[in-house]
Amino acid sequence: MSAPIWIAGNWKMYKTRVEARSLAEAIAEGARKLPFDRSLLVFPSFPSLADVKDALADSRVEVGAQNFHPGREGAFTGEVSVRQLRDCGVSAVLIGHSERRHVFGEPDELLARKLVAAFDEGLRPIFCVGETLEQRDHGRMREVLETQLECGLAETQPRDIDQLLLAYEPVWAIGTGRTATVEQAVEAHRSTRDWLRRRFGSAGSAIPILYGGSVRPENARSLLDGEEVSGLLVGGASLDAGSFLAIAGA
Ligand code: PGA
Repeated sequence: MSAPIWIAGNWKMYKTRVEARSLAEAIAEGARKLPFDRSLLVFPSFPSLADVKDALADSRVEVGAQNFHPGREGAFTGEVSVRQLRDCGVSAVLIGHSERRHVFGEPDELLARKLVAAFDEGLRPIFCVGETLEQRDHGRMREVLETQLECGLAETQPRDIDQLLLAYEPVWAIGTGRTATVEQAVEAHRSTRDWLRRRFGSAGSAIPILYGGSVRPENARSLLDGEEVSGLLVGGASLDAGSFLAIAGA
């Protein structure tokens, strides 16, 4: 069987519960007609998680959460634990998204702890890396990705990596309508792959690497054809069932 193609939708801080449920229902319905090798995940915001899980109960679509606290439980006002997420039917989490890194200032050390917490509870993490435009313009793309991988995966054990997904999301392409060219994506994915092989040996070859940043139905196919591109992480275009399914079917 060929390796799955991962298509993930990050709904960010959009959709009420009713809207999220109806989007999930439309995705569940459309997902029936997709090729078998597509693995779908959606990441609604917290209040909608249980409703979306319910709407996707008989579907092939996994539900993930956009954020969590790495602690087991405790006096952490406003935070949500992995166990609480599992209780809502969540099976995956985003870690290291550029908005968490750059808007909320999450440091590498926290991201490393989150990865450990996700693995400990059996959740599938999508660990995101990506350079800013300034870093790219200074020729630092590779170095930035390697540092983010080095620090973020510092505590990750070889036994955990079956569950791990990576996402390369250049910060300058997220929500800007400015997609990386296939060549730019492939270059970054190759350097991520090199690092994974150095760190995990041959097992590093099997870790899927998704591309994210202004993915649309029009550019999904050419990105997926790129070497080392194992899937797509979609923001804006995942908020509409038609465009998300068109991407997933590309
Ligand atoms: P975008 O977002 O597709 O709207 O650029 C991608 C992401 O934030 O993962």
